[in-house]
Amino acid sequence: MKQSEAKARIEKLRKAIEEHNHNYYILNSPVISDFEYDLLLHELDTLERKYSGFASEESPTRRIGSDITREFRQYEHKYPMLSLGNTYSTEELREFNARIEKVTGSPAEYVCELKFDGASISITYKRGRLFRALTRGDGTKGDDVTLNARTIKNIPVTITGIRVPDEFVIRGEILMPRAVFDRLNDERNNEGLPPFANPRNAAAGTLKILDPKTVASRGLVCNFYFLLADELPHDTHYENMMEASTWGFNVPESISLCKSIEEVITFINRWESERKKLPFDIDGVVVKVNSLALQEELGFTAKSPRWAISYKYKAEQVTTRLLSVSFQVGRTGNVTPVANLEPVFLAGSTVKRATLHNADQIALLGLHLNDMVYVEKGGEIIPKIAGVDHSFRNENSHEIKFIANCPECGTQLVKNEGEANHFCPNYLHCPPQLKGRIGHFISRKAMDIDGLGEETVDLLFSSNLIRNYADLYELKTEQLVPLERLGEKSAANIIKSIKTSLSVPYSRVLFALGIRHVGETVAKTIASRFRSIDELMSADLELLTSVNEIGPKIAASIISFFFDSDNILIIKRLKDYGLKFSEENVKGPESDILKGKTIVISGVFLRHTRDEYKDLIEKHGGKNSTSISGSTSLILAGDNMGPAKKEKAEQLGVAMIDENEFLELIGEE
Ligand code: IVH
Repeated sequence: MKQSEAKARIEKLRKAIEEHNHNYYILNSPVISDFEYDLLLHELDTLERKYSGFASEESPTRRIGSDITREFRQYEHKYPMLSLGNTYSTEELREFNARIEKVTGSPAEYVCELKFDGASISITYKRGRLFRALTRGDGTKGDDVTLNARTIKNIPVTITGIRVPDEFVIRGEILMPRAVFDRLNDERNNEGLPPFANPRNAAAGTLKILDPKTVASRGLVCNFYFLLADELPHDTHYENMMEASTWGFNVPESISLCKSIEEVITFINRWESERKKLPFDIDGVVVKVNSLALQEELGFTAKSPRWAISYKYKAEQVTTRLLSVSFQVGRTGNVTPVANLEPVFLAGSTVKRATLHNADQIALLGLHLNDMVYVEKGGEIIPKIAGVDHSFRNENSHEIKFIANCPECGTQLVKNEGEANHFCPNYLHCPPQLKGRIGHFISRKAMDIDGLGEETVDLLFSSNLIRNYADLYELKTEQLVPLERLGEKSAANIIKSIKTSLSVPYSRVLFALGIRHVGETVAKTIASRFRSIDELMSADLELLTSVNEIGPKIAASIISFFFDSDNILIIKRLKDYGLKFSEENVKGPESDILKGKTIVISGVFLRHTRDEYKDLIEKHGGKNSTSISGSTSLILAGDNMGPAKKEKAEQLGVAMIDENEFLELIGEE
């Protein structure tokens, strides 16, 4: 490689890695697997070593990706939080052992621990009490998440024990068990919120929520793996962890003392399959030198200790050929490219298809038709393409062209600036979108129309009996009976449950309409604030966004829904059929103490959640707003209010009150 080529490649890799760091640490939404990330980092590291003239202190090979966010106050770590060198091969593990034995001259003792796949946390205890919990941040300073950490059930707030140092730091991984993760994503799906990609992102995202009550409800756990103090009770890592477990810290039982590197490899092999039985994800094994004296002798590189290494498990992978790409249109109009593969057996089943997510992903993989591809099953059930085996590329490989028109209705696809997905804008006539909306309308949490499933909707649709959900209310038993697979009895049942749905309350009807971003919870909020659909239809952007939980995205989606004359027509028909479009027994504001006041909430609170405060503001006639401006009347300031907000409030001379003063003001004290 020429110097100029190496320079260009190094710059490209650095930029890509920075981008992936941002996706992983800040957005909690990675777009490539850890393995792919490690490959990029490894390539950059190799180039920087070979072309040392281009090495830089600023390179991501020298720095730890940062999770720091603006909303939290930062504090320095007393002991920096480094990362770990990692490997995917036992060969390199043996080399790691050889380097250590060169120093000791005899076999070293190791501690093997599982490498928990969550968010790391560093907690300081002083005189037996939890003092402060910090995220890893950039390794030097981290975000103060003490209030959130205190809500996690197995993080002790006070501890007792005989050898407890006056001040110590203990580190661990915050995890979300898979069962909790599945439940959370189900809920998010029902509420129209984007799902978390995996339990790690969900745990890291939860730790950064500005509302400890919500954090408490998320079922997080902490597994501890590292004790630090100026004077520790014992001179081996293993004994210190055992000691910490007697103080009440959850040190997982899997921790194991190994007398040789061969025992380490046995541990790794055992957990490769055992890990599937664990309630949470691990992505490898951490191997640590047991003796603290030897750890000290070995020391650190810029980024990681020389006395520890992590062995990472590779997701199970096979290679197969990419035969073609088809494009699927979902309920919301999103177009997803799907890879059709030469069938191949992988982790218990035959794989024929894999998701390609979007055009960006195809470009990222540099994928061509007829390529040999690596397919893996990651944390997700749907297999994905992890990479391309370029050595097989030949003249039959062609570039993949993303379609320009919807495969279902022919409409020209749209891709919004900043969004990864192409979508079909033919909201009103594109069949999968129409059927998808009817499917949503009849679902259990919406109108709960029994006896009508996806298949029957397909049948009714292809028989031209329905085009939209209002058509359901025109159906007659006689029209259904002749349909394939539908007898007299089921036809009558369907008509009966359509009739019963007339008593479904207003908030669920709102949810059933399928307005983008209006999930179950948002629909309830809207129904309690706008007593009838007419009131909602006449609300403008400002009025909508003044309501707790309605941000600009939801508000814009509501407005554009009612802007559409076809939707208005459908609603008019539904009204005529007798669906509930207003709230019975709705309560108005409890008082008008805050009438005419626009209030901004900022920071973290102890006595109520942020959402509860937003509700209280509305209950007493006030308006919520998210940004401080000349029209802000008051700021309800909690702990850790962002410095930028504080400065702006001071500049504009807006009054700030704390939660006690606020509660007193509204007479809730
Ligand atoms: S020890 C100096 N032990 O892995 C050594 N880390 O890059 C510090 N992790 O983000 C780490 N399980 O949060 C250690 N048993 C374990 C671990 C573990 C997971 C995470 C840690 C850090 C990353 C290391």
